[in-house]
Amino acid sequence: MKLAGKTAVVTGAASGIGKSIAQTLAAEGAAVAIADLNPAGASAVAKEIQAAGGKALGIAMDVTSEEAVNAGIRQVADTWGTIDILVSNAGIQIVNPIQDYKSPIGRRCSRSILTARS
Ligand SMILES: NC(=O)c1ccc[n+]([C@@H]2O[C@H](COP(=O)([O-])OP(=O)(O)OC[C@H]3O[C@@H](n4cnc5c(N)ncnc54)[C@H](O)[C@@H]3O)[C@@H](O)[C@H]2O)c1
Repeated sequence: MKLAGKTAVVTGAASGIGKSIAQTLAAEGAAVAIADLNPAGASAVAKEIQAAGGKALGIAMDVTSEEAVNAGIRQVADTWGTIDILVSNAGIQIVNPIQDYKSPIGRRCSRSILTARS
């Protein structure tokens, strides 16, 4: 196992790509925080990982809220001491004509840095 003793936070990990990343990290021995807007989904994925023999923690986190991000990261740090890996997977997908990509996308993209900064 390449990641034994490491800790990871994966945002948007209650489903889809983030869930697969979290399961892969856990299978390699990392303790993984499943951080998601959907706390029930995050908890369910954490339980699946635990049932498979891995270490995981479900965390309620809206990555667009600085307060929620700081609280979630603090919870992980308090539980496991350190955070070695951050997968900032939760994001946005906007399909629009190019002329509409102005300030709204700048504002939304800036939100994806909150987890890294925290
Ligand atoms: N699947 C694709 O082909 C594709 C292509 C390009 C980009 N993306 C991007 O990759 C990311 C993951 O895609 P996916 O297909 O796994 O999506 P998905 O909808 O299956 O999963 C997204 C997860 O993120 C969570 N989430 C949404 N907003 C959140 C927020 N503000 N804070 C925390 N969690 C939040 C959702 O609850 C969900 O569990 C998305 O940002 C998506 O826009 C996906």
